[in-house]
Amino acid sequence: MKTNIILIGFMGSGKTTVGKQLAHHLNMDFLDMDESIQTDLHMTIQEIFEKKGEPFFRAKEQQLSKESSSHSNLVIATGGGIVLYQKNMDYLARNGHIIYLKCKFETIMQRIKSERNRPLFDIDNLSKFRELFDSRTQLYEDNAHFILKVDDKSNDIICAEILHKIKR
Ligand code: S3P
Repeated sequence: MKTNIILIGFMGSGKTTVGKQLAHHLNMDFLDMDESIQTDLHMTIQEIFEKKGEPFFRAKEQQLSKESSSHSNLVIATGGGIVLYQKNMDYLARNGHIIYLKCKFETIMQRIKSERNRPLFDIDNLSKFRELFDSRTQLYEDNAHFILKVDDKSNDIICAEILHKIKR
């Protein structure tokens, strides 16, 4: 039986918040991939992108995807770019249900517009950010076992819907 629950979706779709709540509810361990990489390197994501470069970060992400697939009882909040490499998704799918938290661009913008900790989000270049959003949508859909629309839903409702989908 697949035991992990893996949350994918664009930046600001609620992977971390929902993941924490879900893990608590199910008495599972919680792994936030961004958080784990930051702790490991003693650097923020912003610093990693600036000083080491995006490919370095992506390699770390892949290593963590591989490692986490050999663990069980985990709720995993991935970074929004996890779907960029099919290998990541193959590793994660080995031992987990992949849930896409689908969110409208407008909702994402409302949530992250005042945040400054996302290197790929540039408030001064929204058309580029929109392009990034559009280019990811199909990847999330193709890789998800379950798709959940999350706009305007409370975390309680989202968690309940996930539990219903994976029949726990
Ligand atoms: C990224 C999303 C971020 C983080 C990094 C790159 C992306 O995670 O991994 O800034 O490529 O979409 P969140 O989705 O948790 O913001």
